[in-house]
Amino acid sequence: MEPVKVGLLGLGTVGGGTVSVLARNGAEIARRAGRGIKIVQASARDLKKSRRCDTTGIKLTADPFAIVNNPEIQIVVELIGGDSLARELVMQAIQNGKHVVTANKALIAKHGNEIFAAARAKGVMVAFEAAVAGGIPIIKTIREGLAGNQIQWLAGIINGTGNFILTEMRDKGRDFGDVLAEAQALGYAEADPTFDVEGIDAAHKLTILASIAFGIPLQFSKVYTEGITRITREDVSNAEELGYRIKHLGIARRTATGIELRVHPTLIPHRRLIANVDGVMNAVLVKGDAVGPTLFYGAGAGAEPTASAVVADLVDVTRTLTTDPENRVPHLAFQADALTDVPILSMDEVETAYYLRMQALDQPGVLADVTRVLADLQISIEAIIQKESPDEDGDSTASIIMLTHRVRERAMKQAIERIQALPAITGDVVRIRMEQLSSKQ
Ligand code: HSE
Repeated sequence: MEPVKVGLLGLGTVGGGTVSVLARNGAEIARRAGRGIKIVQASARDLKKSRRCDTTGIKLTADPFAIVNNPEIQIVVELIGGDSLARELVMQAIQNGKHVVTANKALIAKHGNEIFAAARAKGVMVAFEAAVAGGIPIIKTIREGLAGNQIQWLAGIINGTGNFILTEMRDKGRDFGDVLAEAQALGYAEADPTFDVEGIDAAHKLTILASIAFGIPLQFSKVYTEGITRITREDVSNAEELGYRIKHLGIARRTATGIELRVHPTLIPHRRLIANVDGVMNAVLVKGDAVGPTLFYGAGAGAEPTASAVVADLVDVTRTLTTDPENRVPHLAFQADALTDVPILSMDEVETAYYLRMQALDQPGVLADVTRVLADLQISIEAIIQKESPDEDGDSTASIIMLTHRVRERAMKQAIERIQALPAITGDVVRIRMEQLSSKQ
């Protein structure tokens, strides 16, 4: 049988990796897919740039529209990123009846509902395994492998750059900017690295995971998003002292009143496997009612790990080219007319535990005042540490570090306001959320 003809948009890190993996493993991939998969044309912004992959036999163009409009091409692989030109190209490819494979999380999180509707109308597939957690086949796992479960919650380290920065800060005391520059040089970081450190990239990925886990439309604008830029080495070492580790997590949880969608730094017990996922690695913990907790671990970024997911999607699309569209796996795991409109909870309604750190004048009654505020709001304390330290003027001050039990965020906000208003408390209260992620939750 003739090989399937593929057009590649973008020859950057992941594009280059895709060319290399297909070239190296082509014979084995054809045995899996039932026919060969051949990149016939690829686009790049700068055709003169030297590349690590071998593009022999691939027609190169600087015009990506030449690919989506090429009648010979059956599958378009979109690897240029961003959500403006990429959206235009993907919509054009779909209108031209081409199947699409993309690694673009921003595109799917923000425009996926529209893209999937267009794809259904045209009877083509849009596959996006590489959009979440790089090489980890988490989309396929939730969509197919866990299809017998009600997913109760999932929590993931889904931004490699952020995890790399937190790990290096903890282990080597390295400077934030210095580690970020290294992640950029290694090709892990987003074109705009604030997407990594402010949690936007993780929010894109969480949006996608939540949709396929719970059967809800993609709702990126409703994700609560907080980055890692305010995490200090002091908080990292306090957390360690208390038996916790700070990780930047994306959390989606089904509750009786709605769905929690949140990305923020989180203390988790250090003995959890996911607390030990370090460097650029990603991991996603998924709790299903039947299977219990399951953990998926692997490289979340980089040329060939991400290409591994792109090529797996190419194999999937190739295998199903002859299938009736109604019999294909639905884009968002649930049939398009069976998505539900369960509300996404506002952060005020979310219930979680907290790490608090505050600076206080070292004088009698301060701790009693703080604990009274918490007691008045029914917030129960799990642990307290007090550390004496002289301030700039030589006066004695103390750092008070507390862990609380679970409480609604609204009550915690009120507590923090009242604590900050106490005369003996200096400066703002630092608040980091805390999750046990235990199999009982
Ligand atoms: N910037 C992303 C990360 C790349 O660091 O995880 C993979 O999506």
